[in-house]
Parts: sequence; C-alpha cells; structure tokens
Amino acid sequence: MMQAKNIRVRLGRKEVLHGVEFTAQTGQVTAIIGPNGSGKSTLLKTLSGELVGTGTVLLNGHDIAKLRPWELAAMRGVLPQQTTVAFPFTVHEIVRLGLSNGLAAAEEDLPSQALAHVDLAGFENRSYQNLSGGEQQRVQLARVLTQVWEARDQDQPRWLLLDEPVASLDIAHQFTVLGIARDFAAKGGGVVVVMHDLNLTALFADLVYVLSEGHMWMSGTVSEVLNTETMKQVYGIDLPINTLPPTDIPFVLPQALSG
Ligand SMILES: Nc1ncnc2c1ncn2[C@@H]1O[C@H](COP(=O)(O)OP(=O)(O)OP(=O)(O)O)[C@@H](O)[C@H]1O
Ligand SMILES: [Mg+2]
Repeated sequence: MMQAKNIRVRLGRKEVLHGVEFTAQTGQVTAIIGPNGSGKSTLLKTLSGELVGTGTVLLNGHDIAKLRPWELAAMRGVLPQQTTVAFPFTVHEIVRLGLSNGLAAAEEDLPSQALAHVDLAGFENRSYQNLSGGEQQRVQLARVLTQVWEARDQDQPRWLLLDEPVASLDIAHQFTVLGIARDFAAKGGGVVVVMHDLNLTALFADLVYVLSEGHMWMSGTVSEVLNTETMKQVYGIDLPINTLPPTDIPFVLPQALSG
C-alpha cells in the first residue's frame, strides 16, 4: 500500500499542496487527474521522494523519508512528466540507467526486453536525441521498467509512478503503455499514474483521485468521479458524460459541447 498523509508542499513562495491525503493499493491502477497547475506532478514527486514537504509518505509500510536511496530505487520507478537529456546518449545507455541500483546488475538483457515491451525493439543503438517525442517517452518508460522489472520483489510489491506517460503517444501506443501498467498491477505491483485523457482514465483506472488547486477534491471509482457535476466544478466546463453498455464505463465526447 502507498499512503500519503497531510501532504503540504511549498514551492518558492507558494503552497502548492494544501494537506493532501492519498492512498493507493497494490493490484490496482490509481489515477490522478485535475487541471493544469493543480499539483499533480508535485504530488507524484512527493510520493516518489523527490520532493519533501510536510506530512508522511508510507510505501509498503516504510516512511520513504527514512529509506536509503537504493532501497527506494528497488521499490519504485518514476517516469517524470519531462526528461531532458543534454548529451548524445544512445537509447541503450539511457535504458541501462534503470539497472544502476545494482540489484539487477546481472540482468544485462533487461534493457532490450524493456525496449521490446514498449515497441522499440532494435532501437538500442539509435541516438536518443534523434528520436521522435513519443519514441523518447517510450524509451524513458523502458528505463523505468528496467528498474522495477518484476512487480514483486520476493514479498515486497513494487511501484510504478508515471506522470502523463501517454501524453505524446499515438492511440495504439497509449494502449500499449497503459496495458503495461495494468499488467504490472495484475502481477501484484502498484501503479500511480497522472492522466489528462478522461476516456483512457475511465478504461484503465481502478481508482481516480481528482486534484484541484492543490486540494484533493474527491476520489472514487471511475463511475463515481466522472460525472458532469464534478467535471464542471473541477474543469469549469459542461462535459456531457455518457456510458456504454454492457459495462457502463463512462465516456466523454467533447464534440457534443459545440452542438
Ligand atoms: N519550482 C516551482 N516554483 C514555484 N512554483 C512552482 C514550481 N513548480 C511548480 N510550481 C507551481 O505549482 C503548481 C503545481 O504545479 P504542478 O507541476 O504540480 O502541476 P500539474 O497539476 O502537474 O500541472 P500540468 O497538468 O500542467 O502538468 C503550479 O501552479 C506551478 O506553477
Ligand atoms: Mg504535471
């Protein structure tokens, strides 16, 4: 389980998160949605231990502030919203960084396996900087998968923390990547994913948290959260939400706004 209690984070002069509570379970995909600037990336960075605010984050029962860097690296992998690579690294060199926790150093073929998983088999010797935006995003995911390849490490579940992992991807690769997330959860790991696409969220998330202006507005299942009233309150627009039988998964059709 991942549990964050009373998280307050100040960036510069501004308090960005105002006492956020958050819980995610292993075996599930937990999504965080909310408008631009609402604090999603800040929350994910706090859950990963990259940012330290007040409050506590417990990962598998451990206070992450007390874990050593390599213990944390063995427990969770993090895909940031943006990654800048300033040097002419090859794809293999980037993905191999996922092995640097030392625990998986014997697994030299993991980077290639991870690349194949994100549909980039054979890209090992390409220059990272010459890849398209979507290809770069998938290389970064392959690096994270290399780090936390098995969803469980003996009895300990591992975690994937993904910040907008499908933002640059075509629809087929969006399904590839979110399928990897679902598979990781099905194998007993935990997944926390920041999303903007409400329809993909509806298809892939078990639980949805809605952030608004640094407050946790609400959380619940897709059916509980994705409704016209909540969307109006959080995003400020009228979004018609329909459901599709037989599963009654909600979907949003923004074109209907123009009618
Ligand atoms: N280093 C910083 N110094 C000051 N303010 C910051 C800093 N980083 C982020 N912020 C502010 O904190 C707020 C939350 O930022 P955050 O990146 O968490 O938003 P987000 O919900 O991930 O948005 P997006 O959907 O655009 O990625 C924003 O108002 C942002 O301008
Ligand atoms: Mg963000």
